[in-house]
Amino acid sequence: MSLIKKIKASINKSSRNKDWPGLIKAYSNWLPVNQSTPLITLKEGNTPLIRATSLEKLIGKEVKVFLKYDGLNPTGSFKDRGMTMAISKAKEEGSEAVICASTGNTSASAAAYAQRAKMKAFVLIPDGYVAKGKLAQALVYGAEVLSIKGNFDKALEIVQEISEKYPITLVNSVNPYRLQGQKTAAFEIIDELGYAPDQLCIPVGNGGNISAYWMGFNEYYEKGFSTVLPRMMGFQAVGSAPLVFNTKVENPETIATAIRIGNPVNRLKANKAKTESHGLFDSVTDDEIINAYKLIGKEGVFCEPASSASVAGLIKNKEKIKEQSTVVCVLTGNGLKDSDCAINNNEATFHTNLEPQIENITKTMGF
Ligand code: F0G
Repeated sequence: MSLIKKIKASINKSSRNKDWPGLIKAYSNWLPVNQSTPLITLKEGNTPLIRATSLEKLIGKEVKVFLKYDGLNPTGSFKDRGMTMAISKAKEEGSEAVICASTGNTSASAAAYAQRAKMKAFVLIPDGYVAKGKLAQALVYGAEVLSIKGNFDKALEIVQEISEKYPITLVNSVNPYRLQGQKTAAFEIIDELGYAPDQLCIPVGNGGNISAYWMGFNEYYEKGFSTVLPRMMGFQAVGSAPLVFNTKVENPETIATAIRIGNPVNRLKANKAKTESHGLFDSVTDDEIINAYKLIGKEGVFCEPASSASVAGLIKNKEKIKEQSTVVCVLTGNGLKDSDCAINNNEATFHTNLEPQIENITKTMGF
């Protein structure tokens, strides 16, 4: 091989991102796809696993803490993992339109992937409870947005009925292809660590993602790619905690609007993940969520408030974490989606209305 070719080969090997084909291609042996499945992709997946040393100090006991930053997917949330699969399969099956109910992220993701597949997307959202960034995405990606006077649970009931009566594919997490795509996050964690974590901390709304991770961890375990199964630790906001309290919540409330859900559609699957893994469900207050949100910011990572429920739950349950074990906290969505929350909840110094003279600026800076 010539020197130039050798250099080129080594560059290609080391630049993982450049070669990343999207998760369907990367994990095709593990997914229900075949030669005739059209590949609808935005190169989702392959998100960073970031060591969080200040959280490690807080937990103590020589525990390793990692953040799986799924907010770095193409539309800024883990939903893209499920959506690349759901939309590819809908396209394969000849569907021309998709529909979903959403607290925001699913609608952004469905809109983007439908656009790439040249399909129509209808999204139902709860009026006034979707973070602006997510609404902006759905609109720019060209979805038809239907905002209802009611919460997410009502919107989901409506889209389930519509998809039964009309020729339109439902892409909420009751669509089994969604969970198939999302299970790849568990594969990536094991591929990167070289082993499965002892605990997975994850925010829970409808219970789809925790079920998908559990499926992924089990598939790798069964094929001998890992030797332990993590304890699944799912966290809900205290005002929206139907799984924690084993009930339905009529009027869910929380600052973490992404998980403002009172009647999780994947309740059975999520319970199974918790029980089989000897895991737990617990609730965290909005204050605990915001405290964790700020701590994550101090790691140089910006997630949305729902995502920080995973870290809030870890902190609340730190006594239950075994010595020298490994914890992965899933950060499901990007902080930029909910900039109002960020502006209203930080401890930064923000001087406004300054006269534009160097002396004045440096004085304000403390020189
Ligand atoms: N984190 C974020 C940022 C979410 O957007 C969601 C769900 C969850 C966690 C919970 O995941 O439902 O699989 O347990 N968002 C949905 C949506 C409901 O419409 O975007 P889950």
